[in-house]
Amino acid sequence: MSGGDLTLGIETSCDDTAVAVLRGERGVLAELLSSQIRDHARFGGVVPEFAARKHLESILPLIDEALREAGVEGRDLSLIAVTCGPGLMGSLLVGVQTARALSRVWGTPLLGVNHLEGHMFAPLIDADDLSPPFLSLIVSGGHTEIVRVDAFGSYVLLGETRDDAAGEAYDKAAKVMGLPYPGGPEIDRLAALGNPEAYDFPIPLKHTGKIEFSFSGLKTALLWRVNKMREAEETLPLPDLCASFQRAVTEALIAKVSLAVEQTGIRNLSVSGGVAANSALREALRKNRAWKVWLPKPSRCTDNAVMIAMAGHNAWQRGVRSPVLTPDPSLSFA
Ligand code: KG4
Ligand code: ZN
Repeated sequence: MSGGDLTLGIETSCDDTAVAVLRGERGVLAELLSSQIRDHARFGGVVPEFAARKHLESILPLIDEALREAGVEGRDLSLIAVTCGPGLMGSLLVGVQTARALSRVWGTPLLGVNHLEGHMFAPLIDADDLSPPFLSLIVSGGHTEIVRVDAFGSYVLLGETRDDAAGEAYDKAAKVMGLPYPGGPEIDRLAALGNPEAYDFPIPLKHTGKIEFSFSGLKTALLWRVNKMREAEETLPLPDLCASFQRAVTEALIAKVSLAVEQTGIRNLSVSGGVAANSALREALRKNRAWKVWLPKPSRCTDNAVMIAMAGHNAWQRGVRSPVLTPDPSLSFA
């Protein structure tokens, strides 16, 4: 196959090496991911140096495989879109340097994509009925923010977390309870077996009247409760603890989405990032009549390259260019 509107997406901002090939705006021809979760689980979190080395091992074979699966040659590509930040410096460098080299060799245009803008595009891959203006809640391991999307490329940050991100809170809570990394999926699984009302954990910043989040106090409340139980040599009621913790995080997120909808009058909402895979959050978002929600399928809530390819394609069409592409770990979104 040759010619056509083909984008290669590359994502290496944290611990997943992901590659995708997209035809046009939404035609997913290949979507591959090499997860490092097992490698990092034994350390209880992502070890940046180790993550970069793992990306280096997997990236070229993964690109080869994606092109084969898509039935295209490197020289057929119209664009290479690569995550350039925010993220871990070493991890970003592997993706960006690989993309730069391939762009030179194949003579293919190259574009840097903001990882968070990528997340924002994830719900749009399977839906063509959402267009700006809309609100975007991004809830990942590194970020928790609500952005007003006035147009693609024109973003206003309405509010964000003051401390931990929601995913980070899930990961830390799991650690407190002795559960494996990453904590979100594990807490989600155990919470399904527990009572969300069992413990009355605080709903952080619920009534401040501002669009802002805070999750570190909630984690401390859980730690305090767990330590008391351990002191009393009680067996931890994991399902109830998980369900109650998950309820508090979910209520905090829903409260601020409600506020953002109220303040802006915008009722269309996209939600993405790893925590958007959480079943309690998905249910709470879907049953609320104050807004209409667009969610990616769970596998595209977490880091993936289809969202990077789509965001890159969209930006390229708008005329965005990145002449000398270098990674920027502290890039912000809006
Ligand atoms: O978006 P992502 O893959 O990486 C970042 O850009 O940060 O998000 C990873 C985060 C982790 O903190 C993980 O625990 C959380 O998303 N996560 C979940 C679930 N699946 C992943 N949190 C709650 N419930 C889940 N089902
Ligand atoms: Zn992410």
